[in-house]
Amino acid sequence: MAEAEGVGKAVVVTGASRGLGRSIAMDLSARGFRVFAGVRKAADADRFREENLEQLRPIMLDVTDAGTIESAAEEVAGATGERGIFGLVNNAGIIGVYGPVEQISMAAVEEILRVNLVGAMAVTQRFLPQLREGKGRIVNISTTGKISFPFASVYCASKFGLEAVSDALRVELNPWGIPVSIVQPGLTDTEIRRVAMQRWGEQRGGLSADERELYEDKYEKLQSVIERLEETAAGHEYVTEAVLHALTAQSPKTRYGAGPDWEQWATLIALPDDERDEVILKMFE
Ligand SMILES: NC(=O)c1ccc[n+]([C@@H]2O[C@H](COP(=O)([O-])OP(=O)(O)OC[C@H]3O[C@@H](n4cnc5c(N)ncnc54)[C@H](OP(=O)(O)O)[C@@H]3O)[C@@H](O)[C@H]2O)c1
Repeated sequence: MAEAEGVGKAVVVTGASRGLGRSIAMDLSARGFRVFAGVRKAADADRFREENLEQLRPIMLDVTDAGTIESAAEEVAGATGERGIFGLVNNAGIIGVYGPVEQISMAAVEEILRVNLVGAMAVTQRFLPQLREGKGRIVNISTTGKISFPFASVYCASKFGLEAVSDALRVELNPWGIPVSIVQPGLTDTEIRRVAMQRWGEQRGGLSADERELYEDKYEKLQSVIERLEETAAGHEYVTEAVLHALTAQSPKTRYGAGPDWEQWATLIALPDDERDEVILKMFE
């Protein structure tokens, strides 16, 4: 029964090698969508091929690399022809590295913005003609919403940016009836935070003792806050369900809160700035 939902409609999912992207790609293919799953490494493509899923085809797609965006778009166009594509899920994203604004390397700043914001825009631009042909939909994976956390400023900035782009794009694409939905996952069980914490540990090694001392206690607190939050991280089904709704509902929502903790973040976001700062400061005491 689930298979009827997709009925062979082509959907491109970026960042499908692992985490939420992999779950979204697998879920959509199980529901009958024809999924083009973006990966960056041949080994990840092979892993998908070994699963022998008729409805899922891995494509090489690094969202920061214009060459792979072009070749991926051509490969998808070659497979779908004039039918175009029905969905684009901009999922690829990184926290990259945790770090205070004062000390995070500018190379990391550029990398995070390039993947999460510029990359999503570049992929969207390239696939839009195919989406128009397929009377398709766009789903952008943001984060808990418009809230910025210390040590994750650039990640949050990239997602604020993605939300801004999505809001403008939704209106720009209205004449063609191409809906743009934003999915806001709550804390979900993937590797994304562990990788970013590990990289900050490495980057700290390059700081002087005095520089390290400035944020040392906050850094240790951040580690324990993340460890604690990680215990409550949700399964992937909240996000896969939201993506499915955005792709199949007659009237897709503009925003989906996706996770059992989402209300809690929404409440925090709605607080006056000074009250929200107090709550966040308390987390770091
Ligand atoms: N997990 C959460 O709690 C959470 C909460 C809110 C929002 N999100 C958002 O959900 C999305 C997925 O995150 P996740 O938690 O599943 O992270 P993840 O497990 O770390 O997976 C990240 C995915 O993005 C891919 N990626 C990284 N850089 C890329 C690039 N330049 N081009 C193409 N793909 C790239 C990775 O591919 P490689 O394997 O090749 O590196 C991987 O497939 C992200 O946009 C994230 O911001 C996650």
